[in-house]
Amino acid sequence: MLAIMGAMDEEIELLLADLGDRETMEHPGVTLYRGVLDGVPVLLTRGGIGKVNAALTATHLLMAGATRVIFTGVAGGVHPELRVGDIVVSTDLVQHDVDVTALGYALGTIPSEAPAWPADEHLRAAALDAAAEVEGVRVLEGRVASGDQFIASREGVQRLWTQFGAACAEMEGAAVAQVCAKAGVPFVVIRSVSDTADHDANVDYRTFMPLVARHAKQVVRGMLARLGAPARA
Ligand code: ADE
Repeated sequence: MLAIMGAMDEEIELLLADLGDRETMEHPGVTLYRGVLDGVPVLLTRGGIGKVNAALTATHLLMAGATRVIFTGVAGGVHPELRVGDIVVSTDLVQHDVDVTALGYALGTIPSEAPAWPADEHLRAAALDAAAEVEGVRVLEGRVASGDQFIASREGVQRLWTQFGAACAEMEGAAVAQVCAKAGVPFVVIRSVSDTADHDANVDYRTFMPLVARHAKQVVRGMLARLGAPARA
């Protein structure tokens, strides 16, 4: 079953509104919706903000039968060419707030874990194909950096760019990636840029987030058409 996850209501409400045959499943701290979107059986959920919420929700999705996971939402642009509204499709994901350097591990690396989690190639290709249909925006493939921080300074952007080569900053993707990787479940993260993570990020985020969330949603809809033959879901 294909699972679609966002962090906030704005990131999933447009999909939830169109979910047919909706069934609600309550789990501790997580509400999952099962139904049919554009003819494709899906699980849909709002996971909440931050890595812990994301990991909890991803775990419940997998336990409910998710075999592919798409994360949709907004992010702060880090790549210098990104502007508000643009779309990032994840190549891989890192946790930029992990620091075990005192024990000799590279910044972002959790001991005994991979330094980054690669997104699934098939899902990436479908996301890129679908994103190409969103008019007037740049689509970039790149590394998504996740951490329990809202990045809102030039220094913060610079750090993620130079130390991680990140295309964008958000707060959930790499946690979902870590959970999915442990279970061998393919995933991809699609983010539209709500701000450029600099000193205006808080204002831009509030202004543009509900608008640009539509771009990521459009990509998900396009992916359903490409991936979602019910027999393969
Ligand atoms: N999500 C959207 N904008 C963000 C930012 N600047 N930092 C972290 N997460 C975000």
